[in-house]
Amino acid sequence: MEKFVIHGPKPLYGDVYISGSKNAAVAIIPAAILIDGSCVIENIPNIGDVKNLTDTLAKLGAEVEYLDQNTIRIDSENINSYVATYDMVKNLRASYYLLGSLLGRFKRAKVPFPGGCDFGYRPIDQHIKGFEALGARIKIEHGIITAEADKLVGTSIYLDVVSVGATINLMLAAVLAEGTTVIENAAKEPHVVDVANFLNAMGANIRGAGTDVIRIKGVERLQGGVAHSIIPDQIEAGTFMIAAAAAGGCVTVRNVIPKHMESLTAKLIEMGIGVEEIDDSIRVTSDGKVLKVNIKTLPYPGFPTDLHPQMASLLCLADGTSTITEGIWEGRFKYVDELKRMGAKIKVEGRIAIIEGGHPLTGAPTRATDLRAGVALVIAGLIAKGKTEVHNICYIDRGYENFEAKLKALGADIERCVCK
Ligand code: EPZ
Repeated sequence: MEKFVIHGPKPLYGDVYISGSKNAAVAIIPAAILIDGSCVIENIPNIGDVKNLTDTLAKLGAEVEYLDQNTIRIDSENINSYVATYDMVKNLRASYYLLGSLLGRFKRAKVPFPGGCDFGYRPIDQHIKGFEALGARIKIEHGIITAEADKLVGTSIYLDVVSVGATINLMLAAVLAEGTTVIENAAKEPHVVDVANFLNAMGANIRGAGTDVIRIKGVERLQGGVAHSIIPDQIEAGTFMIAAAAAGGCVTVRNVIPKHMESLTAKLIEMGIGVEEIDDSIRVTSDGKVLKVNIKTLPYPGFPTDLHPQMASLLCLADGTSTITEGIWEGRFKYVDELKRMGAKIKVEGRIAIIEGGHPLTGAPTRATDLRAGVALVIAGLIAKGKTEVHNICYIDRGYENFEAKLKALGADIERCVCK
């Protein structure tokens, strides 16, 4: 097991280059199963979840070749199985995309329930509802979801909740279906658009991605043979913007799409942080002083739930009491007890974290309870006086490429150590 050891406080200065989006990559790799041929995917983040998925596709019979650590070539022509095993999926929430792509290609799929970060109840009822509407028969037993269809026929599907996973999964199942599928109340996240652009590049006919109504006209086959570059990771970019605001200094976050960052940019400016958009970069300047604010996490373009824990660390510096109302995950608050070890004054009432700023943080041993909670503790370590340890950093390695190296290059005092 490994841990991060951070000594603070230390300001951050310099440039950081953002990697490709994890949440786009973990959908686009399974989407390659739909292609009766090959594709090249560029700007893939070199992270655990991606390796897990490329290993899974190889086990299903695809040819997977790493052209370099951020570029892969996948040839799905000879995939010969529609069964994913528990070992393939146990650490991965996004394994549910195997359902949509295997069902879409082979009209059958057998995939265990997904693993991944534990925020409490993470249902997939909207995925199932959509597959059944397309004509699939679904069976769930022994923790395995089996989907079978004589054929998939396009139809209208209204999602009861705005769901990134269900929106993408139903796109995957519908691209080779007969007729047109309309997904209403669809998620609008940047990675939903990126998956649609990838599929269209391979020969699909998807319109409206990025709005709440997506139309998918079924085609005979996806012929592949082209390359697609993954969009920059909105959440990694936000994590570094928040780290810069918290540690103080001046950091330019490069390889970003500023439009994707609008909700965070607006909030940081409201908090008195300097934020300047320059083409495909955003410069954050901070003297470590922070004004209190109230935040509500919502589906895109609202404030992302995946930046909630990181913002809580920043708000420990604020000049008063702030609140974060969590609109997506009931179990998002596991980071609170760990921040309290460092002297944070936070209480949770229902779905609201109430953060009393102005209490200096001190270094302490802590542990990551999920991917975003882990990086929030690292940010707290950058602020806190003394030594902070963050254990369970395997969570962080699942979603952030070269995380500590990028922070060290900005001046952070952070080391990866093996736990004795
Ligand atoms: C994706 O999860 C992301 N993961 C999550 O990021 C992110 O927090 C989430 O979207 C929201 O933006 C990936 O893309 C791999 P949802 P997903 O379906 O698709 C409810 C990270 O740190 N819901 O949009 O699983 C659900 O309970 C991860 O990168 C149903 O009720 O999330 C939640 O309250 C963590 N029924 C809400 O919808 C369903 O069938 C949004 O979930 C599906 C979802």
